[in-house]
Amino acid sequence: MYKSLRQPIVCVLGHVDHGKTSILDVIRGTSVAKKEVGGITQKIGAFEVDMESFYRASRTEIGMNKLKIPGLLFIDTPGHVAFSNMRARGGALADIAILVVDINEGFKPQTVESIEILKRFKTPFIVAANKIDLIPFFTNIKNISFRDLQKTQRNEYNEELDKRLYNLVNKFYEFGLSTDRYDRITDFSKTIAIVPVSAKMAIGISDALLMLAGLAQRFLERNIEYVGGLGKGTVIEVKKEESLGLTLDTVLYQGSLKKGDRLAVSTRNGPAVSKVKAIFVSGKGKKLLEKSEVFSAQGIRVVLADKLEVIPGSPAIAIVNDTREAFDEIMKES
Ligand code: GTP
Ligand code: MG
Ligand code: NA
Repeated sequence: MYKSLRQPIVCVLGHVDHGKTSILDVIRGTSVAKKEVGGITQKIGAFEVDMESFYRASRTEIGMNKLKIPGLLFIDTPGHVAFSNMRARGGALADIAILVVDINEGFKPQTVESIEILKRFKTPFIVAANKIDLIPFFTNIKNISFRDLQKTQRNEYNEELDKRLYNLVNKFYEFGLSTDRYDRITDFSKTIAIVPVSAKMAIGISDALLMLAGLAQRFLERNIEYVGGLGKGTVIEVKKEESLGLTLDTVLYQGSLKKGDRLAVSTRNGPAVSKVKAIFVSGKGKKLLEKSEVFSAQGIRVVLADKLEVIPGSPAIAIVNDTREAFDEIMKES
């Protein structure tokens, strides 16, 4: 049904603790951030938001209506300095991105690193200026759009917010990027949108999603056309489970993958091939659904027949007949 356009991949990048996972928690209506060890994300996570949920979260159908996509695949990345390879990997997968900056802390080393990744891959992005609830004079309020928030706050608050925003705008300018508060932009093809948000209070999330929808529309219509053929993915996590065998959590970004396909992967001993024993996608809640075939873009769990030492972050490529071609590609991308 949705085979003509694939889901766009939306990557969330930014400095440690600036609120990436918390923003995603608001979007998907769960709480992952609080359960993380030490409150630090240590791996890439992927989850899908269908259009119905997207409309609910963005409180409108404007924007995405013209874009006939099945949903969005969000990718969370760690912001800790130690995980720079995972940030780059997430950035490489992204069609569009959200750069998260704590509005009170401003630019930090991994903010700059994230900007460099976005520039390198020419990824269009919006900026979520998070933690606006910590700005002085904040009057407590929850679950509100940014537009409506301003009417509920004192002038002192709105002035403090603008001061911090313009510090950000100036910083972006130093990096050669033209940005502005999203509701002051007249030409979105020239200026990157900054959306003030608070993940903690669920403020501005609908505005951010609307900007994201606009971005998707401007940049993606050609890029997200579904490319059929061999499934190609990036392995983001490897687990050896007693009952299942070797499982690979993978972002399938191109083509399709079937149960029984042979999959080329990168292992500690070089490229290797194994048969796909089973494929799972996440269903409602924590449940996994088994599928006989999956189409990109999707977060999938692949069970392989052999217990290989697969390297997380490496490519996984389905093979039709020529093994060498897949191996060449594995070597090139590893
Ligand atoms: P890493 O994945 O470790 O890089 O961090 P992150 O960017 O995913 O940040 P995370 O969502 O884990 O949030 C870090 C801390 O900031 C947590 O204690 C959150 O509760 C807090 N936090 C996130 N968003 C907000 C916000 O809008 N306001 C306030 N006051 N705190 C927030
Ligand atoms: Mg996180
Ligand atoms: Na964190």
